Amino acid sequence: MNILVTGGAGFIGSALVRHLIENTDHDVLNFDKLTYAGNLESLQSIVTNTRYEFVQADIVDQAEVLAVLNRFQPHAIMHLAAESHVDRSIDGPSEFIQTNIVGTYSLLEATRSYWSKLPEAERAAFRFHHISTDEVYGDLHGVDDLFTETTPYAPSSPYSASKAASDHLVRAWHRTYGLPVVITNCSNNYGPFHFPEKLIPLVILNALAGKPLPVYGNGLQVRDWLFVEDHARALFKVVTEGAVGETYNIGGHNEQKNIDVVRGICALLEELAPERPAGVAHFADLITYVTDRPGHDMRYAIDASKIERELGWTPEETFESGLRKTVQWYLDNLDWCRRVQDGSYQGERLGFSDLKDLIA
Ligand SMILES: NC(=O)c1ccc[n+]([C@@H]2O[C@H](COP(=O)([O-])OP(=O)(O)OC[C@H]3O[C@@H](n4cnc5c(N)ncnc54)[C@H](O)[C@@H]3O)[C@@H](O)[C@H]2O)c1
Repeated sequence: MNILVTGGAGFIGSALVRHLIENTDHDVLNFDKLTYAGNLESLQSIVTNTRYEFVQADIVDQAEVLAVLNRFQPHAIMHLAAESHVDRSIDGPSEFIQTNIVGTYSLLEATRSYWSKLPEAERAAFRFHHISTDEVYGDLHGVDDLFTETTPYAPSSPYSASKAASDHLVRAWHRTYGLPVVITNCSNNYGPFHFPEKLIPLVILNALAGKPLPVYGNGLQVRDWLFVEDHARALFKVVTEGAVGETYNIGGHNEQKNIDVVRGICALLEELAPERPAGVAHFADLITYVTDRPGHDMRYAIDASKIERELGWTPEETFESGLRKTVQWYLDNLDWCRRVQDGSYQGERLGFSDLKDLIA
């Protein structure tokens, strides 16, 4: 297959692209605008592979998307490009509306134009896979409640509202125009190459620098964590074996309170970090409670039994094994982190495409 991945330079997108290149025979085109969250250094291990191609472009630009589709002739589109950080959506929702809603609309229209001209058999085999979040369901208050694929949408933040809107558009393009879509809604991801504004990498890097470890409110918010490489495997299962028009929830059965995640990282750093910052007796001493995020969701938890039952996917990592791997990865890749933190990863963009051009 030719698989077009949008947002393939982001955290989950880069894990998916690495998975597709390293574990399948498919050709991959990574279509990414390279916002602050896009980092081609996360794809260094596969950038010279002849089955991989990168195009820097905006999904909002429908003409550009259509030109790329007509040239690359994808059999599947896996749509991950999005603005994804809740705090940024609260400070400035505009980009979230633009990319997550208008961008998904443009991508759907370009795809419909390309797909409608395919021969009958290829039209039937084509897949548009929309990657979304469990945050569209709002939050849970009962301790035993779980989000299923039929839980009503009740998004809380500008981020989750914009993702909910994009899910509705994708379902409408299936129902109205017959576009063969599949949708996945996944819980919080963590793992290597995670941008350091998100909780787990932020805590690891702040702790190593001896800086405060910020915990929102009382830290009792519950999230269901999934190791990013388990998510990449699930996405490949769904795009190749999922039933058209269906939604699959993806989760790791790893519900954790935020404060326990932060304490868990501190305990691992006590064991794995070669040294402590000056004046820090224990990493956990750096934990600092800060004013809660407005509209903060209390608990997310996914019922992933449908994808397990129908497609045979289960996560390989427990939270303990995945968190250990993640902390070790950050300790081993401080150079990647430094280049994100000082902004130099953005200066290298040209270098990477030059390298690719030279080898091609
Ligand atoms: N991170 C999570 O825990 C999580 C959980 C469930 C679902 N999701 C969803 O998975 C997807 C990927 O999440 P992530 O954490 O990897 O995000 P990310 O912010 O790390 O990466 C997003 C990528 O999209 C690109 N992009 C942004 N706007 C674009 C545009 N207009 N045109 C083309 N490319 C653009 C960015 O350059 C970046 O490479 C998102 O749709 C997100 O909603 C994320």
